[in-house]
Amino acid sequence: MRSLISILDFSVEELDALIATAKDIIAYPDKYREACKYKKLATLFFEPSTRTRLSFEAAMLELGGSVLGFSEASSSSASKGESMADTAKILSCYVDIMAIRHPREGAPYVASRNATVPVINAGDGGHNHPTQTLADLLTISREKGRLHDLTIGLCGDLKYGRTVHSLIEAMARYSGIRFVLISPKELRLPGYIRGNVLDAHGIPYEEVFSLEEAMPQLDVLYMTRIQRERFDSVEEYERLKNSYVLDVEKMALGKSDMCVLHPLPRVNEISVKVDDDPRAAYFRQALNGKYMRMALILKLLEEAKNPEKEPLDSEGLVYDRVCTNPKCISAVEQELPHICRLTEPELGIHRCIYCEQKV
Ligand code: NCD
Repeated sequence: MRSLISILDFSVEELDALIATAKDIIAYPDKYREACKYKKLATLFFEPSTRTRLSFEAAMLELGGSVLGFSEASSSSASKGESMADTAKILSCYVDIMAIRHPREGAPYVASRNATVPVINAGDGGHNHPTQTLADLLTISREKGRLHDLTIGLCGDLKYGRTVHSLIEAMARYSGIRFVLISPKELRLPGYIRGNVLDAHGIPYEEVFSLEEAMPQLDVLYMTRIQRERFDSVEEYERLKNSYVLDVEKMALGKSDMCVLHPLPRVNEISVKVDDDPRAAYFRQALNGKYMRMALILKLLEEAKNPEKEPLDSEGLVYDRVCTNPKCISAVEQELPHICRLTEPELGIHRCIYCEQKV
């Protein structure tokens, strides 16, 4: 049985097939109105959300299914100390598929190892956000007409911005992609993505500070919010929060067929005056998120007809080495086994199987 925890769980062919399904849903919505009749989706949101949770719910309703769930941790038994594994086992008794957002990195993965229905990662800490990437891919495909041969600028909080991490992992597998990573040095892209994804696959990229200088070369500009809730120090957030503001003057430096994406919510990093520019695609992107989530639910429910779960790949696994990332799910769930994997044998680097940080 398949789940979607990391965007790497799906091949490029599968991503392209999801995009094709989403485009078919847009063209022929009536065909899908009862596709998930009598099926139930749970949305388990241990962290705030507007778009992701409600677009999942709208997606399931438009497929003729039903939804249940909660939108804050305090209203679930997690507040009484229930583990992620137990929560996943219980929800498997009630629903056919579940989407989980959690502040702890690796929590949806733990759920997927324990659930007997498909689990979708709807954002885990500063780690991954694969369904936002699905929305991003459909948006780039519709706006630009292709997913290859593009120069993509990612601007803002590349360290804690989980949407950026998943988008890079996805786009790096298409041909002719170049990244321009625009951030202050304190908010650089994490080393594991630069090393394992960009360097390991020879993907061209540059790291720059100036948005103005990067603008003229970009086909896609992906703006992000500085992720206040993930900072260890309030002072550091205050110092960095106004690093970038995309305004009408900066838009004038961009190509006429560039498109601007943002996973939203925005704080002040895109001036509202930019919204009227036809290149501003972020509200269309939010709508695309619903169509891609419909396509995803259809795919995972179809694959759940074969309930076999893949065993944990044992290659390079090492047990009982404790992960030191304080944001990892293993830092709070005492019963969870500590497991890491040798991911870069030539450097002897092991990474936690939950959060991917070096152990
Ligand atoms: C993003 C998230 O939650 O990571 N929002 C979203 O899901 N659309 C981006 C953010 O919160 O800045």
